Amino acid sequence: MKSATVVLALLALTSRPGPFGPGVMAGPKGPALRLAGPKGPALQGPTYTKDIAPLLADRCGMCHDAGGSAPFGLLTYTDVKRHAAQIATVTRHRYMPPWKADPENGPFVGQHPLADAEIDLVRRWVEGGAIEGDPRVLPAPRRRMEGWRLGLPDLIVTLPQPYTLQAGGTDVFRIFVIALPITKTRFVRGLEFRPGNPKVVHHANIRLDKTSASRALDDADPEPGYSGLILRSADYPEGHFLGWTPGQVAPLLPTDLSWRLDPHTDLVVEAHMQPSGRPESVQPSVGLYFSDTPPTRTPAMLRLGRQTIDIPVGDKQYTVTDSYVLPVDVEVEALQPHAHYRARDVEGDATLPDGTKKRLIHIGDWDFRWQHVFRYETPLRLPKGTTLSMRWVYDNSSDNPRNPERPPKRARWGQRSSDEMGDLWIQVLTRNEPDLVTLTRQFRAKVAAEDVNGYEVEIEKHATDTGLHDDAALLYLEVGRPDEAVAHFQKSLALKSMTGRSAPAHYNLGTALSVARRLDEAVYEYRQAIQIDPAYANAHNNLGGVLLAQGNADEAIREFREVVRLQPQSVSGLANLAWVLATAAQPSQRDAAQAIDLAGRVVDLTSRRDARAFDVLAAAYAAAGRFDRAQEAAGAALRLIPAEPLATEIRQRQGLYRQRRPYVASDPASKR
Ligand code: HEC
Repeated sequence: MKSATVVLALLALTSRPGPFGPGVMAGPKGPALRLAGPKGPALQGPTYTKDIAPLLADRCGMCHDAGGSAPFGLLTYTDVKRHAAQIATVTRHRYMPPWKADPENGPFVGQHPLADAEIDLVRRWVEGGAIEGDPRVLPAPRRRMEGWRLGLPDLIVTLPQPYTLQAGGTDVFRIFVIALPITKTRFVRGLEFRPGNPKVVHHANIRLDKTSASRALDDADPEPGYSGLILRSADYPEGHFLGWTPGQVAPLLPTDLSWRLDPHTDLVVEAHMQPSGRPESVQPSVGLYFSDTPPTRTPAMLRLGRQTIDIPVGDKQYTVTDSYVLPVDVEVEALQPHAHYRARDVEGDATLPDGTKKRLIHIGDWDFRWQHVFRYETPLRLPKGTTLSMRWVYDNSSDNPRNPERPPKRARWGQRSSDEMGDLWIQVLTRNEPDLVTLTRQFRAKVAAEDVNGYEVEIEKHATDTGLHDDAALLYLEVGRPDEAVAHFQKSLALKSMTGRSAPAHYNLGTALSVARRLDEAVYEYRQAIQIDPAYANAHNNLGGVLLAQGNADEAIREFREVVRLQPQSVSGLANLAWVLATAAQPSQRDAAQAIDLAGRVVDLTSRRDARAFDVLAAAYAAAGRFDRAQEAAGAALRLIPAEPLATEIRQRQGLYRQRRPYVASDPASKR
């Protein structure tokens, strides 16, 4: 039985501020008595105009500003004085400026914790009566608070119609879909998100959807945007995360790290909003900054985390861990922990091959509302063999003030904020492209294995969601568990059959069954699909493949001919037909001349870049007795894929051609 070369068609689914040292403490009014050095005793206490205003403008103004996320401004003496006592308290407790990671982590971009001396300065100013001081020394107001902080964007898009956030109730997660009016591919160096109503938008994630799937959900919802889950088709640009939290603007990327934006892509903005007590209008905008040149490096995004989270009621120390050993050297660019309300503490570590442990990040008082991206000022180098690890601790008791359930309820993994998550995203750069391929391939397998768990949880909650069953089945196929894929496609088929007959549902099931080597059942499902839709080329193609694997070359040829009749350009149809015509066991089934012609078309259609196409061409030449051409074609295939599993088979066939023997499917002489 030979089926390795049969090409299965794709499944039918689409599924600083300057360092503000302790200032020179001169008297506010009188003739400057600049006697004291920075450390010497001050003759008079600090004043607003000289000491406090510049400090607050640097560290607080980006949020405490008209139009900022904070509830009040801190840019005039009146405002600051009104909140003076509070300011002393929140700075002393390091509650403001908000920065959740331990101060010794990093250093990260935008990390400007107040120095002890600055906190003390604020305290002394408040205790000294919050004096205004000489208005003439007040620094000029900063312009950067208005407008775009990264400069004027190359493209600005705005949600066409504002969304009205209801006055009350709990947090709202809304997914807005914004079309991008670009007509050619662009390379993006930066993205600045403006929430439109910073008082209520608490954080946002921005993704790209190249399909119309997100837009269709938006269109189906009468209000702007839609509520529900992010689709799998809406994803971050490869290797990047595009998140926004108040006061945070990710700096422009170096041009060699930009990301690609193709026409017909929608921005998908997931906004987390908190009702304010009255209806609020929300109309986010996104500014994009382009680069003229395409990126030369692509980062990889690693995700540690578990989707088996299941926290019993009352558990105050529920712990989740995960780890991963780096197969190549990397530079860590950025980190983003992500969890929901019950999480209390997160640690990320790197344990080097020599056992040294480096703390990447620790947040001891996790707050869901500050979903920050921590970008290293200087990337952190980690050698191959380093273990990356994370640990989340949750408190699902009523002692946790942020517990969303009162009384607490069992909490399981899920995207909704009432569920729990526990991830640590790590953006890394590899030394070169081959290392990137090694890393992403290996990591993809780890992530898929974990995602499968998440799907099972979601499906338990939403058992009749056919999209979930289909996506889960695809993942099971990807991780090499076809029997589970069969079970989910069966369930999906049963659900879809309640509203009518679905050819794709039978087809998908057939595909999983054939991967599971349950060939008779696969044939049955493909025939069902074809009965519903006789022009279903992929179903004919895959049916042909299964028939061939069952040793039924005559019927396989009939199916492949049908594919080529329906779709004359079908690469898999042409390749499969050429293959049987070249290698069928019965001489009467073979037609070498036609096989050469068909295989030649496949080689052209795949731009001479597909190893299988050359493998088929080689077999066709050998069938015609043209062994030199056969060896040449096999050589071309091997140059394209020197190391993949298929290469071993091709090498064995090439050995036959060298002995001037054709490859015949069930000829014992060609069996290994
Ligand atoms: C990243 C944005 C951001 C920065 C920077 C920031 N704040 Fe805030 N601040 C907020 C938000 C948002 C609130 C509302 C309370 C909350 O959500 O925790 C707040 C609340 C406050 C409060 C009221 C706290 C309370 O108990 O209600 C004070 C006082 C305050 N900030 C002072 C400061 C000072 C002083 C600085 C600079 C040293 C600063 N903030 C920097 C966003 C910011």
